[in-house]
Amino acid sequence: MAEQTARHRSFDADWTFIKGDVSGAEDPAFDDTTWRQQDLPHDWSIEGPFSEDHPSGGGGGSLPGGVGWYRKRFSLPAHDRDKRISVTFDGVYKECDVWINGHHLGSHPYGYTSFHYDLTPHLGEGENVLAVRVDVSRQPDARWYTGSGIYRHVWLEITAPLHVAHWGTYVRTPSVSEATAQVEVLTQVRNEHEDLRYCTLTTALLDAEGTEVGQASSRHPIEGGQTHAFVQRIRVSGPHLWSVDAPYLYRVRSTVQEGDQVVDTYETPLGIRSITFDADQGFLLNGHRVKINGVCLHHDGGCVGAAVPERVWERRLETLKAMGCNGIRSSHYPPAPEFLDLCDRMGFLVMDENFDEWRIGKFPYGYHDHFDRWAIQDTLSMVRRDRNHPSIVIWSVGNEIPEQTLPEGVEILKVLVDLVHREDPTRPVTSACDHIAAHVPATEAFLKTLDVVGYNYVDRWAERRELYYTIDRHRHPERVMIGTENASVAGVRGEYDLQVSRGWRGPYHTRMIRAEQLWKFTRLHDYVAGDFMWTGIDYLGEVRWPAKNASCGPIDLCGYPKDEYYFYQSQWTEEPVLHLLPHWTWPGREGEVIPVICYTNCDSVELFLNDRSFGEQVMSFPRYGMDPSKGWGEQDFTSFARPATADLHLRWTVPYQPGILKAVGMRGGEVVCTQEIATAGAPAWIELAADRASIAADGRDVAHLTVRVRDAKGHLVPDADDQIAFDVQGPGRIIGVDNGDPLSHEPFQSNQRRVFHGLCLAIVQSTTEPGQIEVTATAPGLTPGHITIQTRRS
Ligand code: GAL
Repeated sequence: MAEQTARHRSFDADWTFIKGDVSGAEDPAFDDTTWRQQDLPHDWSIEGPFSEDHPSGGGGGSLPGGVGWYRKRFSLPAHDRDKRISVTFDGVYKECDVWINGHHLGSHPYGYTSFHYDLTPHLGEGENVLAVRVDVSRQPDARWYTGSGIYRHVWLEITAPLHVAHWGTYVRTPSVSEATAQVEVLTQVRNEHEDLRYCTLTTALLDAEGTEVGQASSRHPIEGGQTHAFVQRIRVSGPHLWSVDAPYLYRVRSTVQEGDQVVDTYETPLGIRSITFDADQGFLLNGHRVKINGVCLHHDGGCVGAAVPERVWERRLETLKAMGCNGIRSSHYPPAPEFLDLCDRMGFLVMDENFDEWRIGKFPYGYHDHFDRWAIQDTLSMVRRDRNHPSIVIWSVGNEIPEQTLPEGVEILKVLVDLVHREDPTRPVTSACDHIAAHVPATEAFLKTLDVVGYNYVDRWAERRELYYTIDRHRHPERVMIGTENASVAGVRGEYDLQVSRGWRGPYHTRMIRAEQLWKFTRLHDYVAGDFMWTGIDYLGEVRWPAKNASCGPIDLCGYPKDEYYFYQSQWTEEPVLHLLPHWTWPGREGEVIPVICYTNCDSVELFLNDRSFGEQVMSFPRYGMDPSKGWGEQDFTSFARPATADLHLRWTVPYQPGILKAVGMRGGEVVCTQEIATAGAPAWIELAADRASIAADGRDVAHLTVRVRDAKGHLVPDADDQIAFDVQGPGRIIGVDNGDPLSHEPFQSNQRRVFHGLCLAIVQSTTEPGQIEVTATAPGLTPGHITIQTRRS
């Protein structure tokens, strides 16, 4: 969880909550003793139930919205009473009103931007009551699942009257090389005393071990009620550069002193890196070209909804990283701050986006109603909150904004782009455009105003199916281009349509062709900075009932890789990858031809069924080319002469017989990997495994438990659908269960779940008591599984 400090204190514990509207709950004297005790973050929608009748519709995951109230009673210790106290909400979905001791602090409509209020003038010596009304009754309001409630952290900020202002530091690195870097720190210090004070601001640069590697100190008078902007520069020699492979983080510590007395300290993360988007070379990190192999992500964490424990995102990001993914587009709104902390630490290149709508609505109750009044404030909130994250390399001011095709669109765009440039001149601004080559196209003025032109579904339009960006490259050689959103996986884990094509999803053996061709183009054309595929992970919503989640990603809602995950891994990583599909349990289909697909980066793969070879296949991409340094007689023709395909997958057609399907992958004449898939027998036992054997006893950390139903020989049973019951003993509880099945309406908050294609997930959260959590998974007729998770005080 995000770090707590003396001035930045968690305010998540001990709230009360009621689902429904009540009158007078802002009054401190209101009796809320019958309300539920609730720690934050909290999302009431995910509690369900699923229903076709909820106004959110299939777009919102068919989960309930409505109105909810939260209240928190608190007293301040005597030594904090002369301090400035404010409250920060990282995110409340949506349209909330906040009161302190009956005084209305304000309303905040947008569900994804952070906001804060000064509580100081309204606090009393005894008990204080903060009340929040959250209104999610006006739906549908999005294509995706939004969640409802105070679904992100809340913080109490406690400072001396002379202090670093809220989001008051801005760190940047105007010059970076391997030999030396200059760090520039802009710090807003606020004096809330009535009279003038002399402020000394010391800014120290700490390396990852906490050793000070540079410092700057300045003194300045600040009038009462005024803010002063300090600018300080620190040179670092031999800096550790932040990169995708080595995301080294420094910290900047700001210390505010009045005379000898330290009155405030404040820390900001720092990554020393340089970024360039270039019309010819694409994206450069620290002067080196890096193709952005990115994915778009929505904010839900699957069965935990919008209130996502940090470890849930960490595991998901680890899985994406192992796929070779290095970029994330936070579509279509700013993410939780701790999500960006993870991206900083794990080395992802982030596109931070603010809106899916400007003035023209896409949903009856989308953001357009608020745009005129709030767009500036919400954009400021995104940039000021997030601009210190080294992971963020580009801002996006909108997704598929209808105004892109209208003359007035450019006027709005200019306002947003200028604002972002003013607040952060170090990063370019894009907008994800889906109409660049449409019948009614995006205006040239609109595209010209963007620093980087974002293409959504570049292959959607006519000849661009094959030519992609080339037409625009020819017409506008100065244009910097990136794929903001592009072809997706579109498949359900473990499902193999042999012949039929379900809608646009396609049978499993041809499903990836569109993505393969796009990737070939992107990989070979340096001027395309990269791509963000729609989406990295399945997400709730954006479907028609009875489905409840979109299946667009290479990773399912539980975080389990689908077959297509290995396609990307084979293209985006170097270590040998070999993945066969489908499963090999097709009773009753003996003799029927089944296409067998292999995603690999081996030189060649040979396939065997029950030891009979079905031949070797070779992928020919990039295809054979002459080595100019060698003469004709010296060229190596061996790969040219072998059976090859220009696809980015291998394929055999195999008449089905039960047994063992085996693939052998070769590189440089050596076997580097093999994979076997066996025909499975009847379900026999439950394997229960955890991502980590030990977790923190902090009431927030989680372990992800995976059930695999296996046959007597230990093979995964691909069509198993047993109902698993979990028993949990000790200091932990299940906060979510899932199986990745888009059609399942089983509740996410439960101690049981049916497996789907052999797998299901239970997320177990610690309490604040250290100890052993014992989990047993049972199902009729199967040998149970058992696991122990230790929880430790950190
Ligand atoms: C895009 C849109 C995404 C999502 C996707 C579905 O046009 O930007 O938010 O709706 O289509 O395929």
